[in-house]
Amino acid sequence: MKLINTREWKSLELDAKQWIDGHQRIESLFVSQPDRLAHFSFELDGLFVDLSKNSITASIQSHLNQLATASGVEAYRDKMFQGEKINLTEGRAVLHVALRNVTYHRGVFSAVSSIFVDGIDVMVGVVDTLNKMGKFTETVRSGEWKGATGRSIKTIVNIGIGGSDLGPKMLTRALTPYIQEGLSVKFVSNVDGTDIAETLNGLDPETSLFIIASKTFTTQETMTNAETAKRWFLQTHKPTDIAKHFVAASTAEKLVAAFGIDTANMFPFWDWVGGRYSSPSAIGLPVMLAIGRDHYAELLSGYHIMDQHFLKTPIEKNIPVQMALTGIWYNNFMHAESIAILPYDQTLEHFAAYFQQGDMESNGKYVNLAGERITDYQTGPIVWGEPGTNGQHAFYQLIHQGTKLIPADFIGMVKSHHPEGDHHVKLMANFFAQTEALMCGLSADTLRAQGCSESLIPHRTFEGNRPTNSILINELTPKTLGMLVALYEHKIFVQGVIWQVNSFDQYGVELGKVGAKAILSELENNKVGQHDASTTILMERFLKKANP
Ligand code: F6P
Repeated sequence: MKLINTREWKSLELDAKQWIDGHQRIESLFVSQPDRLAHFSFELDGLFVDLSKNSITASIQSHLNQLATASGVEAYRDKMFQGEKINLTEGRAVLHVALRNVTYHRGVFSAVSSIFVDGIDVMVGVVDTLNKMGKFTETVRSGEWKGATGRSIKTIVNIGIGGSDLGPKMLTRALTPYIQEGLSVKFVSNVDGTDIAETLNGLDPETSLFIIASKTFTTQETMTNAETAKRWFLQTHKPTDIAKHFVAASTAEKLVAAFGIDTANMFPFWDWVGGRYSSPSAIGLPVMLAIGRDHYAELLSGYHIMDQHFLKTPIEKNIPVQMALTGIWYNNFMHAESIAILPYDQTLEHFAAYFQQGDMESNGKYVNLAGERITDYQTGPIVWGEPGTNGQHAFYQLIHQGTKLIPADFIGMVKSHHPEGDHHVKLMANFFAQTEALMCGLSADTLRAQGCSESLIPHRTFEGNRPTNSILINELTPKTLGMLVALYEHKIFVQGVIWQVNSFDQYGVELGKVGAKAILSELENNKVGQHDASTTILMERFLKKANP
């Protein structure tokens, strides 16, 4: 049966109509349901998730839960954890959960349990790679690993893009307080020469280590940047020195060797690790180098805690499922087009960008698993955001008083790594005030009582009723960060199941890539081929300027 014709979907459509027609308000739900927080807030190991400031009544919550059950969320989740090939279009298992199915004791990673794909226990490779990464990391961090001229490594440069860049960049930045003193980690991703040029400027080749991070080792942006870095390095070094200054995180051994990297320094991963889910794989090497093996193990333990919670907790208490259902409510029944992710922590400055890929590349699909065009409901939302309080002085105006509904996730810490003076209490006062103001608004009556002039009342009134999720974390540590990332990953998974899309392919990025290859050859040969009038004039103008 079509999703929109199911009993669960119909009930929710009715709920939404009643909510809107009844002009109901979120804050009044705290009165009608005095134990609301018990139903809408969740706690797991230092992570408190409050979903109570949403336009979701107890009855809507139960209809959403029924939708999750009827959609087979639990069965799909179990298939993922068991290594079934649920990425149907690519015929692959989806096992990023295997990457953190590990324990750690005195420098050694071991598997928690076996996970089989095609009769092979993938945990053997996972553990081997982690231990190899661990050993390599310790030699670099201790200074034992020497560059070609005998000097130890001071700068790590990760060259990758998309999932081979955003994840490690976000994690490394978020864990800044854990980075070894004297070690700096840089990320290059854009094929725009400015990115690599600015990174290489002032860099000392003798103390630099490049990680070429590419699952396929064919991605145009990454390979162009890698070749440029190699050319720069070879201005001062011999080709045989490459092995001491370039390593790879990849699945493509032959291409890695052809580049000149010693395959002993290649850290593999597998086809069942999707790019945007790959940060806990070998793609996490810059993170491990930055924070060390012990902290990296804590990060993986955080992911694992959330994985196990997702796997074992009933739908009603399952945090990723509940967050996913809240998102479904706004996306499909309240007509919201986007969600904002607003971390009140400067070190989470790349978090929204990371989950922009995580969510939009996963669920930005208009074809369902059966290959049919989805015409009657919305799939993945637009994801955007910036850290508070900067966002408050930029785009919160629209969230408060714009014509669009923007559900927002607020993420903050109880304890800061930089409690300088009263900064942290001021930061968090803004977090709490914003979520309250978005919900309660400011009425005309209150403004009148405050003596506001009648002409200004429409401008200064806030309707409120703007929904938010609040995630309050005791402290941003490797463990809680791992939990937070896994929470969003599983939320995306649940939504993909309900929308019946394959969250694990990304054909949508292919067309532009193919086009760019063809156009590149035309530009290089100064010969514009068959294009529409607009593309032709752009290319001609570009060629004229480039070769006047
Ligand atoms: O953007 C498309 C994509 O395939 C992502 O899924 C992936 O993370 C990225 O490109 C990089 O690919 P690779 O690791 O193979 O260089």
